[in-house]
Parts: sequence; structure tokens; C-alpha cells
Amino acid sequence: MARIFSGVQPTGNLHLGNYLGAIKNFVSLQSQNECIYCVVDMHAITVWQDPSQIANNTREVTAAFLASGLDPKKSLIFNQSRVPQHAEIGWIFNCVARIGWLNRMTQFKEKAGKIRENASVGLYVYPNLMAADILAYKATHVPVGEDQKQHLELTRDIAQKFNNDFGIEFFPIVESLIMKSASRIMSLRDGRKKMSKSDLSDFSRLNLNDDANAIATKIKKARTDSMPVPDGSLRGGDRDSRPEAFNLLEIYSALNDQAIPNIQAAFGGKPFSVLKEALIEVAVEKLGPIRKEMQRLLGDKAYIEGVLSAGAERARKIALPIRDDLFKILGFIQD
Ligand code: TYM
Repeated sequence: MARIFSGVQPTGNLHLGNYLGAIKNFVSLQSQNECIYCVVDMHAITVWQDPSQIANNTREVTAAFLASGLDPKKSLIFNQSRVPQHAEIGWIFNCVARIGWLNRMTQFKEKAGKIRENASVGLYVYPNLMAADILAYKATHVPVGEDQKQHLELTRDIAQKFNNDFGIEFFPIVESLIMKSASRIMSLRDGRKKMSKSDLSDFSRLNLNDDANAIATKIKKARTDSMPVPDGSLRGGDRDSRPEAFNLLEIYSALNDQAIPNIQAAFGGKPFSVLKEALIEVAVEKLGPIRKEMQRLLGDKAYIEGVLSAGAERARKIALPIRDDLFKILGFIQD
């Protein structure tokens, strides 16, 4: 049985990319594996977060997990700051990872913006904390979207270097679970930009708390080119020249669990408005119940917080002995 770990930041605007690229896969993994899913509040503060929002956002991610089908009896669900081993092991990894490795991280470059000197140090060492999240549990598999791939390679490098430096097979070399479809859902306004929580335009994404009207308006307004829906005769390279068209096909495919060639067979050559109508229908059908359940759960703060608290207690029981072994390997004198 594999041990699965993954995390989602409580930074608001949870969207379709988070659902299709990550949360939906969390759910399908939970019946066969030991799964640990974390709301990573300490990662969120690498950029400024309003304290009054972070609790709401943490409850919202938790509600999205539960509403999408995660079962707290099967999967362990908690918020990161409750389990101190993440930060402790994160510090150790700050001493294992090399500056050159972190300098290659493309997400830091994107998030730090033009004036890098003004970014927090936390944003820079963020991937080390992410490695600690995973390795605090000696997790073996990590389901994520495509944008996290480089961070997982860094996690492997850290585990390997630690094991080599101390001559011990202590940390596993994790495998990323990046699904072939929907691992990179693009913005509805620009098919070359990923759908993102931080995009200033709300029309760029379908939020998990959008109602049917908002879903319909956003899909209707989604950018396409002037050509009809690509039919099956098109080749792979056409994806690059028609990114918006293929993004809508990909979204339809992932929401409806239907292969892209089948969708092309049904809609190829037709105007985009026809595909958009069908997409609105499946999006409302699949996302509507999740939104409704999220709202119901968010009305029951005590339940959500109970799930996080019970999850944290179980998480600490796994992470503490691993941290103790780690400190022993490092030679730290302990009680
Ligand atoms: P975050 O919070 O940005 O995103 C949560 C998950 O959603 C995926 N995702 C996408 N998938 C497909 N298309 C998109 N447009 C899209 N946008 C986001 C992300 O890949 C991710 O799986 N660093 C992580 C959180 C994290 C973590 C971890 C993940 C912290 N520690 C340990 C795995 C293991 C992040 O910022 O995800």
C-alpha cells in the first residue's frame, strides 16, 4: 500500500484546475491507499495573507475536500501549522538543499515578480518546506498538477542528498502522480496561461463556489479562436496553435470522464457555441453539487474544525517518531 501526501494552499479562489488537477485525484486514491491531505497554511503566508481571511480559506479548502468526496475516516485531513514537525523538518532541509537548486525554481521566479529582493525568504525556501511536508510522513506518492513537478524533483534531490550524506536509506524517493489529462488546466481568457487563484480576472477561472449563472457566463465568455471545434483529423501540434480550443476540450473531457477523440467525434466541425452549451451543462451538473455541499459544510464550522483537529492528532502520531529518528541521525541530544 502506498502512502499518499498532498497539499492545497488556503489562499482563496479555489478553482476548477485545483479540482481536476488535484482534489478529484485525491478522492480516487483514498480507497486503496493511506492518504494524508493537508491544508498548507504555513505555505500560504509566504505571500501576505490577511489573518481574518486565512481561517475562512482554510475552512473552505477543507469543505472542498469533503464535498468532493474525501472521507475523514479514510483520509487524514488537517492544517499544516498544527503539526510542528513540518517546520522542524523544513529547517533541516534548508540545511540540505543547495542555493543553486532553489535558484532554478521557476515558480519562485513567477511569484516573486520583478523585484525579487522584496520577496519573502519564505517564498524562496518554500520548496524545502514542501519536501518536509511529504517526507515528515515518509510518503511515497504525491498527486499534484503539472506546475508542482519541479518541486517534487527537488524533494527527490533532498531525500537523495540526505540519504547519501548520512549513509542511510532514511527518506523514500517520492513519485509524483501527475495524471495525463487535466494536469494543467489553462485560463479561460488566455490558453497560454495556467488557470490560477491569483489571476486578477475572475473570468479566467471557474471557482468551486461559482453558481450556475456564473459558470454559464464564464464559459460563454471563454476565449476561443474563429475556427470551429477541432475534429479528429487534427494532429498534436494543433494543440499549440489552438490552446483555448483544446483547453475547453480538455475541461469537458475531464469533467465528463470522456476521451478527447470521442468529444471531437461528437463536436468536431461545429461552432464553439455548441460545445460551450454542452460544457455548461456538465460543469453545472458536476460542480453544482460540490458547491452546494461546500456551502452546507461551511455553515457547520464546528464540524469542519473537528475534522482538522482529529486529523492533526493522527498526523502528529505519524510525524513525531519520524522526526525523532531524524534528530537522532543528525546527532541532536534529546530527552
Ligand atoms: P496550490 O495550492 O497552488 O494548488 C493545489 C493543487 O492544484 C493543482 N493546480 C492545478 N492543476 C491543474 N491545472 C491548474 N491550472 C492548476 N492549478 C493548480 C496544483 O498542482 C496542486 O496540486 N505547493 C503546492 C501545495 C503543497 C503541496 C505540498 C503539494 C504544499 N506542500 C506537498 C504536494 C505535496 C501548491 O501551491 O498548490
